[in-house]
Amino acid sequence: MKFYQLDAAQRRQQLVAEGYLTSEAAAAWAQPALPSSVGQALSENTIGEFALPVGIARQLQVNGQVYQVPMATEEPSVVAAASNGARLAALNGGVTATTTAHLVTGEIVFADLPDPSKVQALITERQTVLILAAQEAHPSIVRRGGGVQLITATVLGRFLKVTVVVDTQAAMGANIVNTICEHLAAVLEQWVKQTALVAILSNASAQLTTATVTLAPETLATKAVAGAEIASRIALLSELAQVDRDRAVTHNKGIMNGVEAAVLASGNDTRAVSTSVGEYAAHTGQYQPLSTWQLDQGLLVGTLRLPLPVGIVGGAISALPRAQAVKALGRYDTVATLQQVLASLGLVQNLAALRALAGPGIQAGHMALQANALAMAAGAHGPEIGTVAKALQHTTKDLATAQALLADLRQKG
Ligand code: MEV
Repeated sequence: MKFYQLDAAQRRQQLVAEGYLTSEAAAAWAQPALPSSVGQALSENTIGEFALPVGIARQLQVNGQVYQVPMATEEPSVVAAASNGARLAALNGGVTATTTAHLVTGEIVFADLPDPSKVQALITERQTVLILAAQEAHPSIVRRGGGVQLITATVLGRFLKVTVVVDTQAAMGANIVNTICEHLAAVLEQWVKQTALVAILSNASAQLTTATVTLAPETLATKAVAGAEIASRIALLSELAQVDRDRAVTHNKGIMNGVEAAVLASGNDTRAVSTSVGEYAAHTGQYQPLSTWQLDQGLLVGTLRLPLPVGIVGGAISALPRAQAVKALGRYDTVATLQQVLASLGLVQNLAALRALAGPGIQAGHMALQANALAMAAGAHGPEIGTVAKALQHTTKDLATAQALLADLRQKG
């Protein structure tokens, strides 16, 4: 039987047999996700928990390694599409991914200083003093080999902006950078005899991860459309997204279907990722697709580039038992690995969506998987869900039909 045909317990057993899960980890995945003490400690006014299914994007090949990527999402067909995209990439040698150094930027801003250029010069002159102060503010990041790398100052109209670049090692780094910025703000306030307007990290990120895949068109064939035709339509869809903003946003949404589901499962801050990606998509002044697909000497080459401000330690990642389990199963040993897996997942998710759009359209696959959700919305429970979903495959897939099928099933039962 195929992975998707197994039940959840059998899937866990298969991952144990493949060496991706230990038996203890498989047993832990069967338990409730959030001990109430963790829920109480992580957020305020807690009244319960909010659960999402975690599915596995299977056999994602990145830089020669095979990953099983946990994804938390409510959208039917996202995990299936990711696995499908990963399969197409694997047929073509997998995805190649690279990432730049993991640096996080903070800013300390003063308004209406009497002589901002003088303060700007002072900051350059006393760079070493400031770096030492930053080390005092967060000694543990320095012990781990990170810390402030550079402090610069820019005049922006009535503002003086001090930019602090921090190597946050394995952490996403928001807390580290905020601690350092607040400490440096206090030092600078004494120098300029004025209170800083703000001292905070920036969620814009200049650090980019790139994923590339090169596909032989024949591997893209669908039941009804030849591979070469699909490949050239994918290239055309990519070109369309560059000139049609409406399409660019949806194109990017397809990429983020994969990226955000894996970011959420990893315990990272999804809003930090989505806001930095949104800023990057518009960094040229015109909102652009994050990926491009081009035909090059008969092959279809896809490239995705995006910022991924994530970490593998700290905050909720360390506190949430499920995030720890995801880290182990995903084999996210370094921040770079996580970033490369996320970008590769985004690229194959995009590939699966574009292939469907270029071929049968997305509703065929989407609605087949939507049937379970419709059955549940109609009120089906337990085994009724599968029975109603199956019956929906042969008829109109809407709520009224699902309700009628359920009523019929209950009457017969
Ligand atoms: C659906 O969640 C995502 C797609 O609309 C993406 C796309 O159109 O490229 C299928």
